[in-house]
Amino acid sequence: MAQNGTIVVFGSFVTDLTSRSEGLPVPGQTILGSSFSSGPGGKGSNQAVAAHRCGAKVQMVTKVGNDVFASAVRDFYKEEGMDTSFFFTDPEKATGAALIMVDEKTGQNIIVVIGGACQNISAEEVERSRPLIESSSILLLQMEVNFDALFAVIKMAHDAGVTVVLNPAPANKIPANIMTMIDIVTPNETEAKILTGIEVKTKEDAKKAAEAFFRQGVRQVVITMGSLGAYANDGQKDELVPCLPVDVLDTTGAGDAFNGAFVTALVEGKDLFSALRYGNAGGALSTTKPGTAPAMPFRKDIDALYRKHYGA
Ligand code: RIB
Repeated sequence: MAQNGTIVVFGSFVTDLTSRSEGLPVPGQTILGSSFSSGPGGKGSNQAVAAHRCGAKVQMVTKVGNDVFASAVRDFYKEEGMDTSFFFTDPEKATGAALIMVDEKTGQNIIVVIGGACQNISAEEVERSRPLIESSSILLLQMEVNFDALFAVIKMAHDAGVTVVLNPAPANKIPANIMTMIDIVTPNETEAKILTGIEVKTKEDAKKAAEAFFRQGVRQVVITMGSLGAYANDGQKDELVPCLPVDVLDTTGAGDAFNGAFVTALVEGKDLFSALRYGNAGGALSTTKPGTAPAMPFRKDIDALYRKHYGA
């Protein structure tokens, strides 16, 4: 089937419940926070919103409950001008939720995700997504949905010649045969360590982790390294681009903004290293605003930051 320039994101939608506080509590401790908010989140949906705001043609596939959180996300997508026709509805399981605590001193966060309905995507719903996935140009995935569905769509896309980009977050064991179907893997440094055993603190470490992914059958590797920047290796050449200087308010969802901008650049025909820079600019901008999906940056702002640091 011919690829049609669409990015399909097959992943999670959950409602983010976020507190901000000075510092983060340790087990057994209660601290007073300064604010609370709720809004659209989930790594899959955040990445879809990021790519959409970058100007890509995006179709999100996910599953929600039959509840007010599902109505809220449909309203949010409508306001964004995004399609929800591949939002499946679970009659029993509720829409998922994420409990997020943000340290307002550092912008760092800790997160617990309860996938809810999006952990319950059925084989029949995977089949209903087949024509969409097989005709797309890029399938972008994370690891917050049920793995039987996740691995089935990876195989479906791979067999159809669609570029498979896996952001393995949160990191979990991936079967060896599935690894060989992944074109580009985009872990952060923590996920890279879980999946390769290699601690990533320098460019040399990132290169070793990339080589471990190549041995597992992945074709290209991108590792986001927090304040150190972002690394890419296409098997011939590698590069670490430094983090861009911005005023950091909240790092939650920065990896999602990176992935959304990165795949948009790829679908537009940019090479891995230009896409790395575009993702880096998108990720940096998202940290300047609070929240996740609503903090995803818009194309004109990413273009401006990209031009400022990398030229035309
Ligand atoms: O990457 C940030 C996201 O992770 C949050 O929106 C939260 O929902 C969790 O999935």
